[in-house]
Amino acid sequence: MRIVCLVGQKGGVGKTTTTMNLAAVMSKHSRVLVVDVDPQKSTTWWAENAGDNLPFDFAADVDPGNLARLRELPYDTIFVDTPGSLEDTRVLAAVLDASDFVILPLNPEPLNTPAMVRTIKQHIAPRNLPFRVLLSKIDRRRAGQLDDWEHLIDEGLKLPRFRQYVRLYAAHADAPLEGRVVTQYADTRQNANAIFDYTHVAMELMAIWSNEVPKEGPANGKS
Ligand SMILES: Nc1ncnc2c1ncn2[C@@H]1O[C@H](COP(=O)(O)OP(=O)(O)OP(=O)(O)O)[C@@H](O)[C@H]1O
Ligand SMILES: [Mg+2]
Repeated sequence: MRIVCLVGQKGGVGKTTTTMNLAAVMSKHSRVLVVDVDPQKSTTWWAENAGDNLPFDFAADVDPGNLARLRELPYDTIFVDTPGSLEDTRVLAAVLDASDFVILPLNPEPLNTPAMVRTIKQHIAPRNLPFRVLLSKIDRRRAGQLDDWEHLIDEGLKLPRFRQYVRLYAAHADAPLEGRVVTQYADTRQNANAIFDYTHVAMELMAIWSNEVPKEGPANGKS
């Protein structure tokens, strides 16, 4: 069992979108729970729009202090979606303490970067938690954008990132209202890339885990 949290103190980077879509892809082969600890409850709203069609289990309004207890539940992966503004770092601390892996979505907007780097330095690195930056909302019409940002993360910031990135597509923006996740998108030529991106991020995540050196004792040193 792994608990994965989606973190980004800048709002709107794609935490909720990534949570829902990675959970959908991974639920094809394993037991997945999504947990919403965001008082804004956008994940919950999305899940309500999906109703019975959601391909994974969902728990709304979970107190971050109770996350560790989720480990006892029969799931392979639990995704925890966190609030955009984490001025109250107690929520962030509680989520990270319970997590085994952190995903940090990053948009190609320079002002987003310092907050992410600070979060990594102050909260993630000291806990020795494995993490990856996920480039998301990449605009494929802007020549050079992807290359520039990959270079910035690799050479400038020297942070680990997913090789796969998530492009900007209307299908993702429409999905919460439609209550749809990526595995349910109409299989049109237009949607093929949107489906591809999250499918490949999920595959990369599983590959990262399968290469991990097993830790001694309970995951992340906690029971
Ligand atoms: N790849 C994408 N392509 C198009 N739209 C996207 C994409 N990813 C996210 N969005 C849209 O951008 C907005 C913000 O995304 P999302 O809600 O996932 O971010 P968030 O980090 O969870 O935000 P918050 O910090 O407010 O919780 C939403 O309207 C969402 O539909
Ligand atoms: Mg959100």
